[in-house]
Amino acid sequence: MKKEYLMAPGPTPVPPEVLLEMSKPIFHHRTPRFRQVFGEFNEFLKIIFKTQNPVLTFASSGSGAMEASIINTLSPGDKAIVIIGGKFGERFSLICKAYGISTIDVELEWGTPVDPQHIAGLLKDNPDVKAVFSTLCETSSGIVTDIKALGEVVGRTDAILVTDAISGLGADDIRTDEWAVDITVGGSQKGLMLPPGLAFMTVSEKAKKMMRNSKCPKFYFNALKALKSVEGSDTPWTPAITLITGGKKALDIIVSEGIDNVIARHARLANATRVGVQALGLELFALAAPSNALTAVKVPENIDGLQFVKKIRDEIGITIAGGQAQVKGKIFRVAHLGYSVTYDVLIALSGIETVLKELGYDFKAGSSLQAAQQAFLQ
Ligand SMILES: Cc1ncc(COP(=O)(O)O)c(C=O)c1O
Repeated sequence: MKKEYLMAPGPTPVPPEVLLEMSKPIFHHRTPRFRQVFGEFNEFLKIIFKTQNPVLTFASSGSGAMEASIINTLSPGDKAIVIIGGKFGERFSLICKAYGISTIDVELEWGTPVDPQHIAGLLKDNPDVKAVFSTLCETSSGIVTDIKALGEVVGRTDAILVTDAISGLGADDIRTDEWAVDITVGGSQKGLMLPPGLAFMTVSEKAKKMMRNSKCPKFYFNALKALKSVEGSDTPWTPAITLITGGKKALDIIVSEGIDNVIARHARLANATRVGVQALGLELFALAAPSNALTAVKVPENIDGLQFVKKIRDEIGITIAGGQAQVKGKIFRVAHLGYSVTYDVLIALSGIETVLKELGYDFKAGSSLQAAQQAFLQ
């Protein structure tokens, strides 16, 4: 028998009570019953995104809301700054280009944080910039961005700040209103403990004003239409009813634990994971600002990173992620995201030790577990 453990940075495991909720018979969405559920779901989302503004829900993966944040606020020919610290920052830039928006790409070495003062300088030199696109947790490198500092910089200008919090939400703190984030984007399949299929975006008053002048083509992802519907706890199109009923349960679990407690739990899991892998002599990839959502680790020399990830999945049953693009085969990424507790970290470290030993890497067996346990006990 083999037991499967999903420890990649999305999709993440779904709690049994949420699965049970989703197994109930489907019901119609143009009903008071659906509006009641969706209304409560939306209130939970506001607590988790830390906003008083509406949160829109689209039936798409997270990238749908990334696209919506662009096509609803900007027009072809507009200029935007995009912070690119990995694959997902790059995605914002690619979507902008697809709609004829010119971008100032701030390309960072993967695993290093952006300097908010650099963005301040760019905004000063380019007063026509309409939006700054950032990523809370850049999942491809495991780094977390200082969104608060970016909010201070961008909030002083006419530009809007858009933050992709798809993997960071519920793990790394994001205070949408307090930090002056105009649009925070989320996805269901990460910290929110749901299957893939829902995308979210918050909308500030500043963003809403820009929406009235946006000339990008749009139909399905029309945010003004969705904003009007959400006022009545409704959606313009058929919603993903099952994901929303399950979602209400999942968000209830998060809100009952308390969003700040949930973030603190992720911080503890992340710390123990980092301490554990370092006890094996492994190096962290995003040393300067590691996210609470996942830990990216450099694959030791002489070990085949692709084989490592494949072996731990196929032989042990633990799905972690390898590196993407320029770090393919060079890092592995372990998530401690969503429905994840102390003992999940110990399972992951134990699997990592087993496979490293098999691949000939030298270390004292059990050292990562001992270090992580110690970290948990402190
Ligand atoms: C930070 C970040 N942004 C965007 C995405 C893309 O989301 P999706 O695959 O749900 O479209 C992901 C998915 O891994 C992500 O981690």
